[in-house]
Amino acid sequence: MSGEAARGPMPSPHRPFVLVNMAMSADGKTATANRAVNTLGTPADLQNLYRLRASTDAILCGARTANQPGVQLDSGGDEFLRLRRRHGLAPHPLRIVVSGQARLNPDADVFHPARAPLIVLVSETAPRSAVAALRQRASDVRAFGQDQVDLGAALAWLASHHGVRRLVCEGGAKLNDAMFRGGWVDELHLTLCPKVLGGREAPTICDGLGVPRLADAVQLELQQARHRGEELFLVYRVRSPIAGTRSPESPAPPSIPLLPPD
Ligand SMILES: NC(=O)c1ccc[n+]([C@@H]2O[C@H](COP(=O)([O-])OP(=O)(O)OC[C@H]3O[C@@H](n4cnc5c(N)ncnc54)[C@H](OP(=O)(O)O)[C@@H]3O)[C@@H](O)[C@H]2O)c1
Repeated sequence: MSGEAARGPMPSPHRPFVLVNMAMSADGKTATANRAVNTLGTPADLQNLYRLRASTDAILCGARTANQPGVQLDSGGDEFLRLRRRHGLAPHPLRIVVSGQARLNPDADVFHPARAPLIVLVSETAPRSAVAALRQRASDVRAFGQDQVDLGAALAWLASHHGVRRLVCEGGAKLNDAMFRGGWVDELHLTLCPKVLGGREAPTICDGLGVPRLADAVQLELQQARHRGEELFLVYRVRSPIAGTRSPESPAPPSIPLLPPD
């Protein structure tokens, strides 16, 4: 398979093709209610995550996810660095953290692997002192939008200034919600883990206000369903986003292979 085919859908010139990748329990939770657990999947899920990262130019996540101990958004080692090379990608993905009010901790583990560049996206109203502290640690800090980060403008900037053509968004729920509401998501990659976590306050894939009617939901189309052991790996294409939000230049299918052939 050629590098281009293995990487999957290519983007429009105006914004990257966006995948959201999340692991969730059988009852739809992505972490425990106390937020102490943030890894639900097996090593197969981790391999899947690294393989997806190795097909993209950039990784995006929210500040609360990036503040967690051990989160580094790394490439996954030599095997995946080789895969990136085969796909014609830069040795390391660009790492991007959305932190509207600059609450990303400048001492978070995500700043430690200095090899891969890290960009922080804030809003115009982020406290100046917090932004200044992040400037000391990040490769770049950029403001888009007044109170919330204007994700459409940020994605366009990433495409035009950093050549980001494929991007994987790795949550959490608040960032995913903003991405879906903006109409910026093209594919949802979901690992269904055989556990029930419970917990009313436990995060899900997408929190926020929700939609009032079923007709307003983001409509998905199943592209792939495979299982490895007890885990189910699902890929959905976003068929229609929340009404009125679709970015007109949204790119076209199909999907990259999730797992190597059995
Ligand atoms: N199972 C999985 O696959 C998976 C993956 C990722 C995360 N998680 C879990 O999800 C939880 C975190 O999710 P979360 O919803 O609490 O937090 P989150 O989405 O990771 O981060 C929220 C923060 O990101 C910033 N942000 C997000 N969208 C924004 C926007 N449109 N404009 C401006 N700022 C924005 C804000 O930062 P400021 O506070 O600076 O304004 C906000 O407080 C954790 O428990 C984590 O373990 C699970």
